[in-house]
Amino acid sequence: MRAFGQREEAAMHILLTGGTGLMGRSLCRRWAVEGHRLTVWSRSPERVPALCGASVRGVGRLEELDGETLDAVINLAGAPIAGRLWTRRRKAVLWSSRITLTEHLVNWLQTRLQRPRVLVSGSAVGWYGDGGERELREDMGPVGEDFASQLCGAWEDAARRAEELGMRVALLRSGMVLAPDGGFLQRLLPVFRLGLGGPLGDGRQWLSWVHIADQVALIDFLLHQEDARGPYNACAPQPVRNGEFARALGQALHRPARLPAPAFALRLGLGELAGLLLGGQRAVPARLCEAGFAFRFADLNTALADLLGDHRLKDAA
Ligand SMILES: NC(=O)c1ccc[n+]([C@@H]2O[C@H](COP(=O)([O-])OP(=O)(O)OC[C@H]3O[C@@H](n4cnc5c(N)ncnc54)[C@H](OP(=O)(O)O)[C@@H]3O)[C@@H](O)[C@H]2O)c1
Repeated sequence: MRAFGQREEAAMHILLTGGTGLMGRSLCRRWAVEGHRLTVWSRSPERVPALCGASVRGVGRLEELDGETLDAVINLAGAPIAGRLWTRRRKAVLWSSRITLTEHLVNWLQTRLQRPRVLVSGSAVGWYGDGGERELREDMGPVGEDFASQLCGAWEDAARRAEELGMRVALLRSGMVLAPDGGFLQRLLPVFRLGLGGPLGDGRQWLSWVHIADQVALIDFLLHQEDARGPYNACAPQPVRNGEFARALGQALHRPARLPAPAFALRLGLGELAGLLLGGQRAVPARLCEAGFAFRFADLNTALADLLGDHRLKDAA
């Protein structure tokens, strides 16, 4: 049954890759409540109902869906980008878990008699490379050439092949997704709670971020907008500098956040991965705003207050 005021729409069968991840779990929660039928393609299909909701089905092989009608595909799978050093072996995992997996997905879609109408596929603001002071909109090309931008470029190209199958393809160039229960914020919190947080390098690099509630809402928006195709910067309209982010997080936690992590130490400890933290993107969601999407959390302080505020601490107690 639908709550008063909810959009009336036909229930869809939606296939998700990466459905067990941070964004995927939140999407499943929303779409299950709305009555959609959800299937998650996962390396651990048996864990899917526990992670994504009892009504969500896990499949280990796409062929298990042959003969079933499918309305939409959300493609978010990928090994964590900042979890480990970018050794040659790790880069191969980052590549195959996105590009090879997406190629496999599109090849399988090609074999189907019935094709879903839309593919919403992952990417990141890292697609642009290190943008320096430039404001990055979707009508610009990449401005830097590093591993992360090559990875996103190849990932988008692999997804775009679904256009040749007559599908609408929308690409999500996500900023850093802020959520109370996972992702980067959860990894930063222990350090910042101890008062040991601070800017990375000189803290002047730009950081594009998005509240998880807006990320879920904008993915749902792109799923339903019949004319939404091509790349979309999935980030709040007000990116901040890294130092500003550290200050805001410290303030939200009532802790000092003045201890900088020097650039040379990051480069020494993290190698090429340090480039991801010391560079940045000042991306703006130009196409989403033009299409009429309204962000609930445009301002970082309001987003952090919502994610870390006293009401959440009380809820957790
Ligand atoms: N979170 C962010 O701030 C952010 C920002 C920009 C871009 N992105 C990108 O957007 C996508 C979704 O983000 P997220 O934070 O929701 O991701 P996530 O929590 O890291 O989850 C991604 C999912 O990918 C699958 N996966 C992990 N390693 C894999 C591997 N080696 N091979 C195949 N599949 C693997 C896992 O699903 P199974 O275990 O079920 O197979 C996992 O649940 C990711 O690809 C991420 O890179 C995220």
